[in-house]
Amino acid sequence: MRIERMDFSPCSMALCAHGCLMKTDDPIPGRIAASGVLAVLVIDRVEDAVAVAEALLAGGVDAMELTLRTEAALPSPAVSSEQVPEMLVGIGTIIDPSQVMQVVDAGGAFGVAPGTNPGVIRAAADAGLPFAPGIMTPSDIERALPFGCEILKFFPAGSSGGLNHLRNIAAPYAHLGLKYIPLGGVTVDNMADYLAGDMVAAVGGSWLAPRDLIASGNWKEITARAKAARAVADQCR
Ligand code: 3PG
Repeated sequence: MRIERMDFSPCSMALCAHGCLMKTDDPIPGRIAASGVLAVLVIDRVEDAVAVAEALLAGGVDAMELTLRTEAALPSPAVSSEQVPEMLVGIGTIIDPSQVMQVVDAGGAFGVAPGTNPGVIRAAADAGLPFAPGIMTPSDIERALPFGCEILKFFPAGSSGGLNHLRNIAAPYAHLGLKYIPLGGVTVDNMADYLAGDMVAAVGGSWLAPRDLIASGNWKEITARAKAARAVADQCR
């Protein structure tokens, strides 16, 4: 009896009917992993995205996610890299397939969602948008696998059990080389715990540039927070 060596990569599993999304060796996840920190933003004024991007860059954070929780996110020139080309700008909170083309048209470099919505994942695959769906359970991971997703948002990281929970749900899929971005409840005080996990590509959250600091234009504080996060990430890597 001979056991054939199996190729376990998600896209070799004959399930991957669509384009592959966010492969671990693609340039976009590579940039997110190199940054190690992803700032999650809710902006109320279009122009704030550029100012926040500059404040984050000044602190050494060069990856951010503008959430589709306000109408100001997509029209910002920060998304199309016009004014801040050094910043990698993705779009988060993609919860409807129709939003995928809007993100692509606006120039978003990648997409993120809180959940594992097959319609959204399929639309992202069809549009060629690097995309990380949100997962919190093994069933979520298995919904994402057929689409070739190799980078997954672990959300909400803190309230679902932190790195311990992630280690447990990720264990059955360790041979697939999946990587995770814990988001939700991550702070400068606990980010090192998450970055200790070898399946963690990067961490992120809104603590770097919370909505109230953006609304009040407190760029100094945002730069200080980015610097603090950069220091922790550099220490962990
Ligand atoms: C989100 O999508 O809301 C993010 O994951 C941010 O969560 P946080 O506000 O807890 O950082």
